[in-house]
Amino acid sequence: MKRRRLVIVRDPAGVRDLVGAARRSGRSIGFVPTMGALHEGHMSLVRLGRERASYLVASIFVNPKQFGPREDYGRYPRDEARDAALLEDAGCDLLFAPSERDIYSRDDRTRISVGMLDEFLCGASRPGHFDGVALIVAKLLNIVQPDEAFFGQKDAQQAVIIQRMAADLDFPVRIVVCPTVREADGLAMSSRNAYLSESERGRAAALYEGLMEAREAIRNGERAPGAVKRIMVARLTRSELAVDYAEVVDAATLRPVNGIDGLVLIAAAARLGRTRLIDNIVLRVSPDGVEEAALEFPEWSRYGWKR
Ligand code: PAJ
Repeated sequence: MKRRRLVIVRDPAGVRDLVGAARRSGRSIGFVPTMGALHEGHMSLVRLGRERASYLVASIFVNPKQFGPREDYGRYPRDEARDAALLEDAGCDLLFAPSERDIYSRDDRTRISVGMLDEFLCGASRPGHFDGVALIVAKLLNIVQPDEAFFGQKDAQQAVIIQRMAADLDFPVRIVVCPTVREADGLAMSSRNAYLSESERGRAAALYEGLMEAREAIRNGERAPGAVKRIMVARLTRSELAVDYAEVVDAATLRPVNGIDGLVLIAAAARLGRTRLIDNIVLRVSPDGVEEAALEFPEWSRYGWKR
């Protein structure tokens, strides 16, 4: 089969034209939004998108509105040529890579805030972050108008917030959440892993090990969130990671639970030097046992989608 050529487009109107033509020719549209510096985590979304849609769009935009004033917007890794080559090899059809001026105008006034879901976890330590994420994802979904958009469980709070926004605002899109892709030692792949020094990289897997120890404790019958939290904090501290949070929350509301039961999200964030890393697992806890699970969203009956 002849390999498809990747088309790179910078202006939203150009994306609309190409996607519109693909749709008129009967193709289904898949979309993978990213900030670039692509790794296997991103590529797993691209591959699933490639399987499920007949026209696949990816975007690369390092969105200034989701970075706090003291965060890493300036030094966030950027390598469009490398990313474009990876996307072309993976069979992506269109790369939307706008500049800041293609996306935001000085007259922008509209903000999107998804209530309550951003009060804990990353929302608590990164004020305004998820408003910035919701705004850019809403704009990207409106520009691309995909049938399905692909997100990673690695950013579980983001996935839940986007799902809520899409449902609340009647975006006719299905949000698909894909499992976290990890390095051999368990460290979740992230564009920010590139910031780690060799010694920091050696200690970074403690984040995943903390989650594994939490899972083990719950499997052994622990049902008190405080005890599970302490296990994670101890593991992180032992490897000299500065704990930002280690939480057990309800996977739907993202609020801390009193007892561990049902679908729970166990999530942690920690700093190694200047680098902030996050990770999580989802567990289904019932009298029958404890098993790892995926994030679950309400039925999409309104638009006829089935899980
Ligand atoms: P970015 O961090 O580039 O991530 C793009 C997508 O890849 C997100 O859905 C993220 O959850 C997913 N992803 C990242 N690491 C992953 C891993 N190890 N395994 C599986 N999926 C992984 O998330 C963003 O960009 C931005 O906030 C964005 C949604 C593009 C809005 O600006």
